[in-house]
Amino acid sequence: MTAAFAKAPPPFGRVRLQPIADLDSRAWRRVAIHFRDPEIAFLNGTPPNRMPLWLLRRVLRADARRPDRATFGIYDEHDDYIGTVELYDIRAHEATLGIIIGERSHWNHGYGPEAIACILGYAFDDLGLERVKLHTFADNPRAQAAFRKVGFRELRRVAVPGGRVDVQMDLPRFVWYRERAQHAVRHEADQAEVVDGGA
Ligand SMILES: CC(C)(COP(=O)(O)OP(=O)(O)OC[C@H]1O[C@@H](n2cnc3c(N)ncnc32)[C@H](O)[C@@H]1OP(=O)(O)O)[C@@H](O)C(=O)NCCC(=O)NCCS
Repeated sequence: MTAAFAKAPPPFGRVRLQPIADLDSRAWRRVAIHFRDPEIAFLNGTPPNRMPLWLLRRVLRADARRPDRATFGIYDEHDDYIGTVELYDIRAHEATLGIIIGERSHWNHGYGPEAIACILGYAFDDLGLERVKLHTFADNPRAQAAFRKVGFRELRRVAVPGGRVDVQMDLPRFVWYRERAQHAVRHEADQAEVVDGGA
């Protein structure tokens, strides 16, 4: 279980996470815009948020104190706020992942998997979970592709009311450690190539 307010995990690639309780007012304005966006709400399977900023902030900050939830803001390499990632329903051995890259300019550029890698480090290294699972929709192939990139596998598809199909995926701890080790090897090889190329 988490403490009241999670601590920031180490950065990954271009991305760093910050506990939602620590966001500044500029970031909170972006959160409100992301949560109000009808396309993002549809992709997420929730109605667009209509709360005024002060109330949204109060609700999310209160949520962040829950021991079964860890919510982070996502910042890019320019320190711009680009979205939100969280673990919810945190239990002894598993939790559920949710992510919104709210800035369209950042879709399809690999920021999602980097943010997911950050929070998976938190899930497996800090919380000691055995498995992280998630739900997405079959009509969101970008999300499925991004989740597969970090090692999630599809478990099942379930038709849900409203005519959409819920795609359930999970990532066991051992698979994450294997993926992370392979990523480190690839990264070292890339670095060596850069050094050789420059020599
Ligand atoms: C889903 C999300 C987290 C993915 O992060 P991302 O940084 O955009 O993803 P990536 O750039 O790493 O990868 C997306 C992949 O999907 C592919 N893709 C994009 N649109 C696609 C489509 N319509 N069909 C098939 N593949 C598609 C991209 O080509 C890319 O693959 P590649 O890197 O091999 O070329 C992010 O886009 C997002 O938050 N979107 C809005 C909200 C949302 O959908 N949240 C998830 C709800 S479960």
